[in-house]
Amino acid sequence: MTHKIIVVGIGPGDPAYLLPKAQKMIEKARILVGGRRALADYSHSGARECAIGADIPGVLAFIREALAEDDVVVMVSGDPGYYSLLDALRRTFPIGQIEVVPGISSLQIAFARLALPWHNARLLSFHGREPLETELVRTDGAVLGMLTDGSNNSQAIAVRLLACGWRENDRMYVCTRLSYEDEKIIETTLGTAKDDMGIGHGVIIVCTHEEDT
Ligand SMILES: C[S@@+](CC[C@H](N)C(=O)[O-])C[C@H]1O[C@@H](n2cnc3c(N)ncnc32)[C@H](O)[C@@H]1O
Repeated sequence: MTHKIIVVGIGPGDPAYLLPKAQKMIEKARILVGGRRALADYSHSGARECAIGADIPGVLAFIREALAEDDVVVMVSGDPGYYSLLDALRRTFPIGQIEVVPGISSLQIAFARLALPWHNARLLSFHGREPLETELVRTDGAVLGMLTDGSNNSQAIAVRLLACGWRENDRMYVCTRLSYEDEKIIETTLGTAKDDMGIGHGVIIVCTHEEDT
């Protein structure tokens, strides 16, 4: 029998945003892989564990070995389909061996907090990467939803967008610790954010200022 890799999205953090299907998979798991935060929240005595750190080849080797024994449940933050270990798993294992349980992405919850539809938004990641200039360019009515990291923070992104035709009074929403008790959503403008201290590790939403478009 071929065992499966079940990639489970655990949502933005608060277990209230974990799908019941995902919870069931985690509870049933006998082999559980996940980041430190996920293991702290969801590890249980019935499961052998492997923490996802910087050594991705090591994690993939652990999964390969563990599959000989049982199914492996891999927990990732947000939704597996948006910048997660799923990419590396697809390059390493047969796709038919991978099952995905979706989760609520940090981008989804950020748009929900602003009551802002995201069907026309340009979704981008500054988490350990740099979007192309063509993806950042200002167009009338544009909405950008972006993942950030420590160095690609609100200040750096404001500077980058202003260089791509965005304007000083275009709106920026800096969303951190979404779903947690200390969640913060700061509303500012690109002109202010470029001079303020940068805030990273969150979601940033930027919209054109309506009177200017
Ligand atoms: C490796 S990416 C994973 C994205 C994830 N797959 C998703 O759908 O949200 C990690 C980035 O997600 C964002 N993120 C994850 N959880 C978050 C939260 N609770 N609040 C704000 N941003 C979060 C941050 O931009 C963080 O740097």
